[in-house]
Amino acid sequence: MKNISRSFEDYLKSYRRSIEQPEAFWEELGAEFRWRKKWDRVLDWDFMKPEVKWFVGGKLNITENCLDRHLETRGDQNAIIWEPNDPGEEPAYITYRELHSKVCQFANTLKEQGIKKGDRVCIYMPMVPELTVSVLACARIGAIHSVVFAGFSSRSLMERINDASCKMIITADGGYRGDKITGLKDIVDEALVDCPSIEKCIVLKRTGQQIEFVEGRDLWWDEAIEGKIDICEPEIMDSEDMLFILYTSGSTGKPKGMVHTCGGYMVYTAYTFLNAFQYKEGDIYWCTADVGWITGHSYIIYGPLAAGATSMMFEGVPSWPGMDRFWEVVDKHRVNIFYTAPTAIRALEKCDPALVERHDLSSLRVLGTVGEPINEEAWHWYHDMIGKGRCPIVDTYWQTETGGFMISPIAGITPTKPAFATLPMPGIVPAVMNEDGKEEIGNGVEGRLCIKFPWPSMARTIYGDHQRFHDTYFSGFPNKYFTGDGCRRDEEGYYRITGRVDDVIIVAGHNLGTAEIENAIDEHENVCETAVVGYPHDIKGNAVHAFVNCFHPPKDEDDLRQEILTLVSRIVGPIAKPERIQFVSGLPKTRSGKIMRRILRKIAEGNTGDLGDTSTLLNPEIVDEILGGNAL
Ligand code: WT7
Repeated sequence: MKNISRSFEDYLKSYRRSIEQPEAFWEELGAEFRWRKKWDRVLDWDFMKPEVKWFVGGKLNITENCLDRHLETRGDQNAIIWEPNDPGEEPAYITYRELHSKVCQFANTLKEQGIKKGDRVCIYMPMVPELTVSVLACARIGAIHSVVFAGFSSRSLMERINDASCKMIITADGGYRGDKITGLKDIVDEALVDCPSIEKCIVLKRTGQQIEFVEGRDLWWDEAIEGKIDICEPEIMDSEDMLFILYTSGSTGKPKGMVHTCGGYMVYTAYTFLNAFQYKEGDIYWCTADVGWITGHSYIIYGPLAAGATSMMFEGVPSWPGMDRFWEVVDKHRVNIFYTAPTAIRALEKCDPALVERHDLSSLRVLGTVGEPINEEAWHWYHDMIGKGRCPIVDTYWQTETGGFMISPIAGITPTKPAFATLPMPGIVPAVMNEDGKEEIGNGVEGRLCIKFPWPSMARTIYGDHQRFHDTYFSGFPNKYFTGDGCRRDEEGYYRITGRVDDVIIVAGHNLGTAEIENAIDEHENVCETAVVGYPHDIKGNAVHAFVNCFHPPKDEDDLRQEILTLVSRIVGPIAKPERIQFVSGLPKTRSGKIMRRILRKIAEGNTGDLGDTSTLLNPEIVDEILGGNAL
């Protein structure tokens, strides 16, 4: 593919060109794909409305690019390697030819069950190959998939189904995750009581557990596909037709159904996948995310497959049957590019180093991270213990809304700095905005991160609520997309994401980034993970409350508190010293592994009567422990 950087000079050149001649730059990349009709114009845009269209008037089907296009050149190459939850079960190796055939067969099944172009189909499945088949089969016939992470409750599922008026849901009887079995079909049944738009429910048999069947509505996957042929002409889609809806939680209220479209999303995810990870022909690439998140959509399915890569899907969890499951799988499949989240890294960093050392990790070449700012200690552990100091760390900063990487190193090419996402991808024009809404020019500045120019994979709207799309992302800073994140651009022009801007604490008139304080506390050898929030303080306006999770219970809490205070003083400055330090055995996390600071903030504020909905947490029980604890 064109415009892939092979040196830092290349990157700088591509970047300059992508800014000076964006249309020519993206047109060149667009031309690498199979289109049924070429676009009339590369880009139409107006951030005030906002309205963005890429490859305007172009016609294509993304699955033709992810599958058919590869049949001649790499039909027998593995498209998907599937590693099951239980290491005792056989992995699946699915070639491009086999995947093409399965997708076509299931696409015909969907059609037979009454699904047409434009219909919404909800997918609520464990991490099995049929999940990828379902996603691509929808795209094959122009149906809009809405994947809901299979850890969400029936209530969350019901809300998402109704928001998009889905006509069908695809699920499984149950799902395995570690030593747990989740009764997915039971959860679906509960949700469907309040989902009038659902006509059919296709159920894959995975766990074999007892389930209820509703006559006329439910059917088994195996029976549904039986006798369906494996040839299915792709539906010809407009470049700007909807490809999928994916929900992301808003800071308040109901989840936002982010809408992504076909043409630009395909071009951008394939290009950034190849460029940032420097994927080479024959590499085994493993992203540990779930397809229920944007990371799985863009960088397990669409990006890698559009690029003709071998992408691994993992059904299990990092902690079962042992805390070395990731390293065992890397070794077993000789993984070359490994992509995971800081929360997983921090959990694994806690363990006995022997768990890492007993596996051969020499196949690894590139290590990626995504989802939240990675603290320096975790960065170093990942770099030294997993990468043995020879694998570049690709800290990819992006969002559900952006569809693909915004700021990220190019593996082995961009000089990295711990905890920095480094430099923008070609085509991305960041702006750092100050409190007065003015852009900070030059380096050595800090502020709110906006993007000034459209990029091909950006979300086009919130399903059914364009006004909210405008208000959330395009009203705070007119004519710019506002990410909701804070960042620093250092003296060299490198970006460090400092976290959501609602996580800034102003203490005695000083702006303190929670991530900065957390990082400092994490430097302590006995500290595993920290969350810092602000709470109102009589004299300083705000003060800092630190929730600290240790590797070993501290022998003397007061001694450890003193050491932490000294550390924060030393690293950030005395002003950042937490007023309270509370030792906890875990932090409340969302199912995607993000720390729920909102809840911690309420606890710190003493606002414990109204903690909001904690039922969607990964570990709701931890909230009671924290409430019962004391902080000095
Ligand atoms: C938010 C988006 C993008 C896929 C997973 C999360 C934070 C994401 C990084 C990173 C610092 C990061 C931001 C962003 N974030 N990646 N590399 N460094 N922060 O998608 O659920 O839409 O969350 O995650 O705060 O706004 P998401």
